[in-house]
Amino acid sequence: METVKMISSCHMEEIAQRSICAPGQHWELREKLDDCGFVILEPGGPDERALDEIMPELGKPVEYGFGTKLTLEPQEASDNLQFTTSGMPLHTDGPFNAGPPVKYIGMYCVTAPEVGGESLVASNAAFFEHAPADLLEIMDDIVIEYRNRISGYYKDRPAGSHPRVAPVQIDPETGERRLVIGLTDPDDPMRTHDAVVVGYGEAESAELLGRIKTVLHLPSVLYAHKWRVGEVMIMDNRRVIHGRAAFPGQPRKLVRLSVS
Ligand SMILES: [Fe+2]
Repeated sequence: METVKMISSCHMEEIAQRSICAPGQHWELREKLDDCGFVILEPGGPDERALDEIMPELGKPVEYGFGTKLTLEPQEASDNLQFTTSGMPLHTDGPFNAGPPVKYIGMYCVTAPEVGGESLVASNAAFFEHAPADLLEIMDDIVIEYRNRISGYYKDRPAGSHPRVAPVQIDPETGERRLVIGLTDPDDPMRTHDAVVVGYGEAESAELLGRIKTVLHLPSVLYAHKWRVGEVMIMDNRRVIHGRAAFPGQPRKLVRLSVS
């Protein structure tokens, strides 16, 4: 009997279910990455491998100001939101870092918080499917300017350069429409960056970014991954955007390695 390929569903709840590679099934990684935009490798099988082994097969490690491998855990008195217990707004990795664009982001869980600290993953395909047509039309015509507020983290671009990025782009390699965006909370004194729609007033810009955020947080678009120790998550930076839920008073330690 001929197998009929099902039309893939664009509801994040179903995408997230498909994204799991059970122990012993890690060979499905590539296929699931392309299908879902991210994959979760459950630990405990004979095919469990370290992040250092998995990621170089997907690309070349990306250099940041700190090197290539990053330990993500709260640090006392850090001025970088990444190293606090606060939430991290949804974003694409890349616009601030000089150098090759990030294709895949790999994360390994060393310590999982009991409450909060979920990694937030929003599917670009689901966003385009569920966003109102008028919002998508507006997004096709705008450019967002970003201003970095943290130092020593990214490989710096020339001083005074504020990247201007179209939020909707066609990826030259996948040929798919993708989001390239960095949401930010303007009221958070620890925010990593500012974002403003070029040519818009402050209020108008905030309203539009708020509309985009609302769609990104629909259950049909956003998945919140609760970490278990030993799990690996790999995200395709061109197919999903990501962020983090807050985890006040909790420990949390992830190791990250991104490749281009
Ligand atoms: Fe990120």
